[in-house]
Amino acid sequence: MTQPNALPEVVFPGGESRPALGLGTWRLGESAARRGAETKALRLALDLGWRVFDSAEMYGEGGAESVLGDALAGAMRQGLAREALFVVSKVYPHHASRAGVVAACERSLRRLKLDSIDLYLLHWRGAEPLAETLAGFAELQRRGWIRRWGVSNFDLDDMEELFALDGGAACSANQVCYGLGARGVEFDLLPWQQARGLPLMAYSPLDQGALVGRGGAASLRAVAARHGASPAQVALAALLARPGVMAIPKAAQEAHLRENLQAAALALDAADFAAIERDFPAPQRKQPLAII
Ligand SMILES: NC(=O)c1ccc[n+]([C@@H]2O[C@H](COP(=O)([O-])OP(=O)(O)OC[C@H]3O[C@@H](n4cnc5c(N)ncnc54)[C@H](OP(=O)(O)O)[C@@H]3O)[C@@H](O)[C@H]2O)c1
Repeated sequence: MTQPNALPEVVFPGGESRPALGLGTWRLGESAARRGAETKALRLALDLGWRVFDSAEMYGEGGAESVLGDALAGAMRQGLAREALFVVSKVYPHHASRAGVVAACERSLRRLKLDSIDLYLLHWRGAEPLAETLAGFAELQRRGWIRRWGVSNFDLDDMEELFALDGGAACSANQVCYGLGARGVEFDLLPWQQARGLPLMAYSPLDQGALVGRGGAASLRAVAARHGASPAQVALAALLARPGVMAIPKAAQEAHLRENLQAAALALDAADFAAIERDFPAPQRKQPLAII
């Protein structure tokens, strides 16, 4: 098993550092016919040095967690230390009552074949009062089933409400849609999180592939050409340049897995950012949180 490249890191509350690049798993585990190929892709990702994995009970209704669990178990049988990994999963809002969170987490752990989840997120806000969900997360921490908890798809007003609750400031991350095509969080949410040392996990950082496909932006292609890099690497490097941001692109193809991991080595300069800015201007006012 090769060692991961020196990736930039994000620091979680309390000082724990983890790579600022993780691998998404949405759309995995949806078909039994593809399961073997998907497990192989995740094993390759582990061999290449990916160490942070983002999943959810929603993805393939548990299928993505199962595929990920198979791949992680295989890598750990071959000597990869559990502590080297950072596994993220999410609970459905309709399971987010105090008792529901505990039951959902137990199912996720079984599928992931792990004793604990490193970061467990409320996938989005639903009808359950946040205080109920926090009580469930606290119970999971007491049991040692999760190390940290956080939220997803929370805009600034949601975060302020959360932090005003008893225990709410113990939140470890907020995972939101963030990429060059969706920069709204830079106006208010990202600075708010940075000021509190609260990592922002950027989901769909490649706009589900649209940002870097054939219709992708000319500026990304131009900057990429200047560096002998790819547009995807430029799109990811632009996010990784911001403190406290972890990007979690999904990739199943070997070329993408290799390419995205190398994005961390790409240092963009002021001219690059100015070129990118022309196609993807920074927000000048509050924008509603993008949600996929
Ligand atoms: N919390 C939430 O509500 C939420 C919502 C959406 C997503 N997420 C998480 O965020 C992860 C990433 O988001 P996403 O899956 O929506 O979209 P994404 O990461 O923006 O894009 C994934 C797509 O881009 C392609 N791709 C990857 N690397 C590429 C490269 N170097 N060049 C060209 N194409 C490339 C992938 O192709 P291949 O797969 O064929 O390699 C895939 O089709 C998800 O998997 C999930 O874990 C969370």
